[in-house]
Amino acid sequence: MRPEFLIEEWDETHPRWHEFVDCLETVSPEQAPFVFGECYRMHQSYLLVALQVSEVVGFIRFAVQPIGPEVKCPALRLDGVQLTEAKIHAFAVRQDARSQGIGTALQRQTIWRARELGCYQVASYSSYGRQANHHIKLSLGFAAQPEVHGANQQGVYFLLPLQNIAL
Ligand SMILES: CC(C)(COP(=O)(O)OP(=O)(O)OC[C@H]1O[C@@H](n2cnc3c(N)ncnc32)[C@H](O)[C@@H]1OP(=O)(O)O)[C@@H](O)C(=O)NCCC(=O)NCCS
Repeated sequence: MRPEFLIEEWDETHPRWHEFVDCLETVSPEQAPFVFGECYRMHQSYLLVALQVSEVVGFIRFAVQPIGPEVKCPALRLDGVQLTEAKIHAFAVRQDARSQGIGTALQRQTIWRARELGCYQVASYSSYGRQANHHIKLSLGFAAQPEVHGANQQGVYFLLPLQNIAL
């Protein structure tokens, strides 16, 4: 039987916030700038943590932002309403807790929360080589746009629309 886990939403005032920071810095320090960097604090951010035997074993961090300004384009509107997206900035699960469905559960909870927050879509960028992340995104139905950043940084831009398609 797979060990169980819980997902909770924490903010920076949570008394155990430092445990998330420890997990981030231990498991995936390269993602820390996307949590603490000044430009990633411009919009309201949300944190979901996965707890197993009461320890933080994984997390996902996303911000709700207008669609467009991040890439210096005008904000998109639909019927006069400015559209927002949940942009994932950090996502990792501790090595010894992987392959138990925790990462997928964190993504599913993000999708649910983004819909609740009125977002039009969930967005995420991931470099090539992150096969488990790509597998999760594609399995959940994200659309994928491979692209090259800078000189030769290959990655995939993933987008999941949250509106029901009515044809
Ligand atoms: C991405 C990550 C969070 C996934 O966490 P996880 O808890 O292991 O995720 P899950 O158990 O829910 O699912 C992993 C899936 O990837 C699949 N997978 C794992 N390694 C894979 C590989 N090399 N190629 C293809 N699929 C792979 C697993 O089979 C599983 O799919 P399944 O449930 O359909 O069998 C974790 O691997 C991680 O922390 N990676 C390092 C940080 C990272 O890459 N973050 C993304 C930042 S862009």
